[in-house]
Amino acid sequence: MSILLSGCWPAAEQQQWLRLLQEALPGEQWWLAPPSDASEAAQVELAIVANPEAGVLQGLPNLRLIQSLWAGVDRLMQDPTLPPEVPLARMVDPAMNEAMVHTALWAVLALHRGFFEVQTQQHQGLWRQPQQLRAGEWRVLVLGLGELGGRVAQGLATQGYAVSGWSRRPADLIDVQTLHGEAGLVQGLDAADSVINLLPLTEQTRDFFNAARFAAMKRGASLVNLARGAHVVEEDLLAALDSGQLSRAVLDVFRQEPLPSSNPFWRHPRVTVLPHCAAQTDARSAAAVVRANVLALRAGQPLAHLVQRQQGY
Ligand code: NAP
Ligand code: GLV
Repeated sequence: MSILLSGCWPAAEQQQWLRLLQEALPGEQWWLAPPSDASEAAQVELAIVANPEAGVLQGLPNLRLIQSLWAGVDRLMQDPTLPPEVPLARMVDPAMNEAMVHTALWAVLALHRGFFEVQTQQHQGLWRQPQQLRAGEWRVLVLGLGELGGRVAQGLATQGYAVSGWSRRPADLIDVQTLHGEAGLVQGLDAADSVINLLPLTEQTRDFFNAARFAAMKRGASLVNLARGAHVVEEDLLAALDSGQLSRAVLDVFRQEPLPSSNPFWRHPRVTVLPHCAAQTDARSAAAVVRANVLALRAGQPLAHLVQRQQGY
């Protein structure tokens, strides 16, 4: 099989992926850029991509599968030249899922126990003990109950937090209050001490966190955005923080990445900035995920983790 591997990544990262994928799929022909020769381009059946340059997937008439190495395919789907009929699979990587649970647990634990404030106090030489609430006294709302959100909700519930989760369709999760629809969202936002965003970025969820949504949140609640920067209207978030409607934001993702040095989030005393590191694809486990889909493709078996293009995720 002829395979195109393409992404916006440093050369060393590309080489690491190539090595691991070649080990997982030995004996294939690999391209690191689309072949310029039409007959060679016609042989490419699989594209493995990590947010490639727009247009890279044009002119491959026999492409049978686009396998994303990223979980979120919002950027890929913005490419108007993305072949519409070719199945698109997104990455569901067990190691990434685990990393996301760890990041969410860290953020919620630090918020619930007041450890972000304690860290600020250290720089002021202040010895002040925060209130010690029990986990069950801290309600977390997880928006999106998919591969990541579902696991995060479950992981928090296991630690004793009071957890609610909101999804597009009704869901059922052990020890998690599940909500859906606008009424469910209002109920969830009103009750949560911390809100974790793990929605995909779609036409329905762009600018989701705006002034109205912040106003619907419990006063003094915190936002943890682990999904995409374009979910949040930045000016509205700053206004909500400055008015005290929100007490803190933990932000892993931004409308522009890397976050420009002029962005006020960098210096805001109640914003924690992470450099989009909540959960990265782990090439070691992801190569096996890609291999499983390639074997399914060859065998004519159903492909895993296909994106519903109409839904946008
Ligand atoms: P997923 O499995 O596709 O789950 C998406 C969840 O969101 C589902 O529960 C879905 O509801 C819900 N949803 C979608 N649209 C909705 C809407 N309009 N209203 C309410 N709920 C809606 O996605 P995932 O693998 O969990 O990943 C989620 C996102 O995390 C990715 O798209 C990506 O942007 C982000 N991410 C970030 C990082 C990072 O390092 N920061 C790493 C990986 C991924 P249904 O269950 O009803 O379909
Ligand atoms: C990371 O943000 C991903 O979507 O994989």
